[in-house]
Amino acid sequence: MRMILLGPPGAGKGTQAVRITKDFGIPAISTGDIFRTNIKEGTELGVKAKGYMDKGDLVPDSLVIDLVRDRLSWDDAKDGFILDGFPRTVAQAEALQGILKDLGTKLDIVVSIVVPDEELVRRIAGRRVCRACGAPYHVDSLKPKVDGVCDICGGELYQRADDNEETVRNRIAVYEESTLPLVEFYTEAGLLTEIDGTIGIDKVEGLIAKALDK
Ligand code: AP5
Ligand code: MG
Repeated sequence: MRMILLGPPGAGKGTQAVRITKDFGIPAISTGDIFRTNIKEGTELGVKAKGYMDKGDLVPDSLVIDLVRDRLSWDDAKDGFILDGFPRTVAQAEALQGILKDLGTKLDIVVSIVVPDEELVRRIAGRRVCRACGAPYHVDSLKPKVDGVCDICGGELYQRADDNEETVRNRIAVYEESTLPLVEFYTEAGLLTEIDGTIGIDKVEGLIAKALDK
């Protein structure tokens, strides 16, 4: 199964990716997580990406596309993958078509998670993320069993540098301008399913599972 999770910041892409990964045994590939790992390790890519990410702007297509081309060629992505946060521009979507063609495969489904802006801001402001495995939590609506500790891997929870109200509002604006055109792009390709992302994490997972069954 080869799928894209599309949606604004805070829509629940990462939350659902963790769950689908478990159900299907395929990797969840988050370009945001890959950049954060590179920032932490101080790589050249991380240094280049950090300035854009801290402001909530998109990292240039050229940096993102090469990294996804490489990641999709790994052995673990042979039988499927979930792309979380890629593509984010029409140029990235077109590049992805070329990458998949070269790999002799194609997409099965694009799930677009829809959530109103004010709810996105509430979620992002209260989000905490595992430093080790990236699993997301929320200070009100999704608390870990032990304060500050990831339920899944025991890693330390922290607040992302770009998770403040000002940056989030820019990320939402950037999403609407650069990424929303992909809804039309993938509707025309006959791949898009829209899902209400406001109904609770388990119910959203159920809707995605239903869409994947079809
Ligand atoms: P990225 O890491 O992809 O961030 P994002 O797209 O802004 O999305 P988020 O991770 O903030 O939200 P999410 O949808 O994963 O929500 P989550 O599941 O955590 O990108 C970061 C930056 O990297 C970008 O700004 C850009 O600079 C750069 N970048 C990355 N990819 C790029 C690309 N392809 N091109 C260019 N630049 C790129 O959930 C959020 C919160 O809500 C959590 O607390 C969760 O518990 C809660 N929640 C989730 N679902 C529900 C629900 N159903 N009900 C109630 N609460 C819920
Ligand atoms: Mg995420």
